[in-house]
Amino acid sequence: MCGIFGCVLKDGPAAPLIHSSLKMLEYRGYDSVGIATISDGTVNMKKDSGKIDEVHKILNLDDLPGAIGIGHTRWATHGAPLKVNSHPHTDCTGEIVVVHNGIIENFLELKSELTNLGHTFVSKTDTEVMPHLIEETLKQNPKLSFEQAVHESLKRVEGSYAFAILSTREPDKIICARNESPLVLGINGHGVFCASDIPAFLEVTNKAVMINNGELVILKADGYEIKKISDGSQITREPITIDWTPEMAVKQGYPHFMIKEIHEQPETLRNTLRIQDHYLDLLSTFLDRANEVFLVACGTSYHACLAASYMFSKLAFLPTYPVYASEFLEQHGKSVNIDSTILAVSQSGETADTIAAVTCAQQRAATVLSLTNVIGSSLTRISRVYIGTQAGPEIGVAATKTFTSQLSVLAQLALKLSKKRGKISQDEIDCLEAKLQLLPEMVNIIVTTQEEKIKGLAKKYVNAKVFFYLGRGISTATAYEGRLKLMEIAYIPSIAFPAGESKHGPISLIEDGFPVVFVCPRDDTHRTVIGNIMEMKARGAHILAIIEEGDEEIKSLADDYVEVPKGIPAVLSPIPYAVPLQLLAYYTAVEKGFNPDMPRNLAKSVTVK
Ligand code: M6R
Repeated sequence: MCGIFGCVLKDGPAAPLIHSSLKMLEYRGYDSVGIATISDGTVNMKKDSGKIDEVHKILNLDDLPGAIGIGHTRWATHGAPLKVNSHPHTDCTGEIVVVHNGIIENFLELKSELTNLGHTFVSKTDTEVMPHLIEETLKQNPKLSFEQAVHESLKRVEGSYAFAILSTREPDKIICARNESPLVLGINGHGVFCASDIPAFLEVTNKAVMINNGELVILKADGYEIKKISDGSQITREPITIDWTPEMAVKQGYPHFMIKEIHEQPETLRNTLRIQDHYLDLLSTFLDRANEVFLVACGTSYHACLAASYMFSKLAFLPTYPVYASEFLEQHGKSVNIDSTILAVSQSGETADTIAAVTCAQQRAATVLSLTNVIGSSLTRISRVYIGTQAGPEIGVAATKTFTSQLSVLAQLALKLSKKRGKISQDEIDCLEAKLQLLPEMVNIIVTTQEEKIKGLAKKYVNAKVFFYLGRGISTATAYEGRLKLMEIAYIPSIAFPAGESKHGPISLIEDGFPVVFVCPRDDTHRTVIGNIMEMKARGAHILAIIEEGDEEIKSLADDYVEVPKGIPAVLSPIPYAVPLQLLAYYTAVEKGFNPDMPRNLAKSVTVK
């Protein structure tokens, strides 16, 4: 997981653009940064460990000559986050320069072979084998062009990669290649760009060309050529227009992307309601015919799947199995078959565990359907049918707006399926559809009326050593998501359970002042949840309840409460009820002095298993 960027400009300098583009990719990893350019036949390079701004302050990343260059922002996989392991990496001569996102699985074999041939390695990375492999290929076949040498070398590389490679032999071009790690081109009148993701070049162009697995690209100032790695055959692919504005990818005055993205939810939810009906219809047709349905995802997307399993069951009477993608192979890898249907949910569409689960299912002839926020991502390419979750780029590492968008699309899908199956009355369906339309405004009300209060609660509970999150029914998924948010950005160990399970063990942790967050919409579980609140209170817990506006019963029991507008049906409740929990996590992290956009040890898109 890392961000790569490269550009060939008609007129330089490349370095400032590479620097600003890498900033837009920092969400992909940020433990070191490096840029290399070529000018007058020489490689110029600056790199170091640390975040981009820190390194720039010391090295001035903009100060490199040349109209062609590549850059990298890193999330360490092989080798500690040290300068020596920072990208770009070079061959022995320093003439070939490589940035890479992914993992070269056979790097140890290649490294030992190349070392025996006299190559000197300086880093602990897998990436460094690539420049040496190209150098060796050229040494053994001096007549090969730079492109041919890269092409030959790629045939020896096993694993995942998005490469961008420069050589002083042919200083007018960048060679890129992709296998399993994202790569996209941008193009405008001034040059051509390659990047791990679209926001990297959105400031300079909205014309993008998606690169697929197994493709090699030659970038020159006046255009690009795409070829298949397998046989070198040419591929014609025209740019598409991306309707994300550059403003969508910057903070717009908010201190962090996360809070900006929390505030964007009324708008993103509105966008989810504009999804074309025939996609929902198509997807629900597949689900209707399925013998067994697995809902496969990681992290927050898994919580959306968990909520969806209640939606499908309650609205369409369809039993589904939510499964952590990282467990899918072990749990269902052998039994999944032609009659199985996988609905994979992933914000990025690049999560390695999700892609691995889906690939396994596909190889066993199962039907793969998906929901993702990134059209053109790996997941969309593997899926028989997919739907975009319409949330726009999410930069904050903690998923917020993409979670509520996933839930909205999943709810629409469940309703569509319900209609097909005729399991609930048309009146009920109409009522739920009408409620879905109200959700953007409800979320707006929560954000505008409850934010200050939640800020105060974050201050009050900031020193808590541990938190409990409890909910019943579909609110279990909301509780899990609230717990994940707090843990990942505020680093407070937190525990979430279905409220009913809490008395089967976890309750033993409760002592005076222990904060317990209850997610309690006024649904069929309300009465039982009150019982669970009483159990916790009796043992000294501090109750922070997320309640329906005017729920006097719980207000009288809770130490603190946050109100959510009335009238939300249970199956839709995770959408508004998640929002106060996102805000609580955000303000707790801020109160503790942490940067919620860049939680330690995490990256936005987890492209390693
Ligand atoms: O891109 P995906 O939805 O597949 O990502 C899955 C998880 O890595 C992601 O949800 C992660 O848990 C986030 N940090 C949650 O905020």
